[in-house]
Amino acid sequence: MSQIDWHDETPVPGLPPTLEWVGGLDGHLRLIDQTLLPSELKLLDCHCAEDVWRAIRTLQVRGAPAIGVAAAYGVCLATRQARNADPDSFLRLLKTSAEHFLTARPTAVNLAWAVRRVCAAAERALARGSSAAWEAMLSEAHRVAQEDRRVCQQIGEAGADLVPEGGGVLTHCNAGALATAGSGTALSVLYAAKKRGRRFHVYVDETRPLLQGARLTAFELHAAGIPVTVICDSAAASLMRAGKIAMVIVGADRIAANGDTANKIGTYSLAVAAACHRIPFYVAAPLSSFDLMLKDGDAIPIEYRPGQELACSCGRQVVPAQVECLNPAFDVTPAALITGIICERGLAKPVTEQNIKQICSPAPCTGLDAS
Ligand code: MRU
Repeated sequence: MSQIDWHDETPVPGLPPTLEWVGGLDGHLRLIDQTLLPSELKLLDCHCAEDVWRAIRTLQVRGAPAIGVAAAYGVCLATRQARNADPDSFLRLLKTSAEHFLTARPTAVNLAWAVRRVCAAAERALARGSSAAWEAMLSEAHRVAQEDRRVCQQIGEAGADLVPEGGGVLTHCNAGALATAGSGTALSVLYAAKKRGRRFHVYVDETRPLLQGARLTAFELHAAGIPVTVICDSAAASLMRAGKIAMVIVGADRIAANGDTANKIGTYSLAVAAACHRIPFYVAAPLSSFDLMLKDGDAIPIEYRPGQELACSCGRQVVPAQVECLNPAFDVTPAALITGIICERGLAKPVTEQNIKQICSPAPCTGLDAS
C-alpha cells in the first residue's frame, strides 16, 4: 500500500509521525511516547499487543483517532502468531483480543470503531484461510490510518474560515497532530487557517490533571509557528469576560445522535462560560467519533482514572494521603451549548439531531459494509 510522505504534509516541522507501522508483515507499531513530552521526544516501539494496550491505557498514545489507529494495529499484533492456525482458532483469538482492546479506554468511540473495522476485514477474508485474514486485517489497519490523515485535512479545510481574523482562540486538551495519525481535528482547523493567511492567537487551557494542553498543544502550536499562551483551566472564563476570546474550538471523544459531545474533562465548563459570553463554541471531529446508537450524552461511558493522577502533580503529592480524589477523564457538553460541529463533510449547524443525521448519511465506513 502506498505510504503518504508525512513530512510533506505535517504542519508541525520536525515532529515524527504520532504513530506508524514500521516494516511489512513482520513489522511493529512505533509511536511517540506522549507522557514524556515536551521535555523528551522519544519513540516507543510496540512489538506485541500488550505493549500497545499499555500504551493506550497509560496515555503514551492518546486522543480519540490516534487510539483507534493504535488499537487497530494492536489487534493485528495480537493475532499475528495465529496466522498458521486453523480459521476457528484464529477467529477465537481475534474475538478475545478485540474485546481486550475495548477495555483499554472506554469513552472514545473511535477505538471500538477501528477494532470493528479490522475484525470485519478478517472475517470477510477468512474463507481464504487465517493467513489471508490476517493480511486483510493489516491492510485495513493501514487504511484506517491513511483515512485519518485525509479526514484531518478535510476537517481543517471545512473549519478554517470560522477562525476570526485577529481574534483569540481558546482550546482545551490536545486535538492536534499528536491526537491523530494526521494533522489533528480542532488544531487542523487552526493549521488550515494559518495556511490561508489568518492571524490569530491561541490560548490553551493547561488541562488538569495530565496537562495535555500545556505539554502537548502548546508544544505542537509553538513548533508550527502559531502564537500560543498557556492559561490555567480556571482562567478561561475571565479571559472571555476580558474580550480576549473570539472563538472556542475543541475535539471530541464521542458524539451522540443528538449532538451531545464527550471531550476532556473541563470542556463542559468552557462551553457554559462561552455561552454566557456569547462566544461561538465549535467541536471538530471525524465521523468516526459519532455514535448514532446513543440517543444522547447520558449514555456515553465516562472513563474514571486513578485518583493518584490528581493527588500527585509533577512528581509531588499535593493532596493529603488519606483524602479521596475523584478523577473523571471526560465530561459531556450538551448540544445546545455547541455552535457547530465541524467534520470531514462540512459543518453541522445548528447542532440538531436532524443535522447530525444528515451529515452522517451515508454512514462512514464501519468495516461492516461490503468491500
Ligand atoms: O485523555 P486524552 O488525552 O486521550 O483526551 C483527549 C481528548 O479529550 C481530545 O480532545 C479528543 O480525544 C479529541 S482528539 C482529536
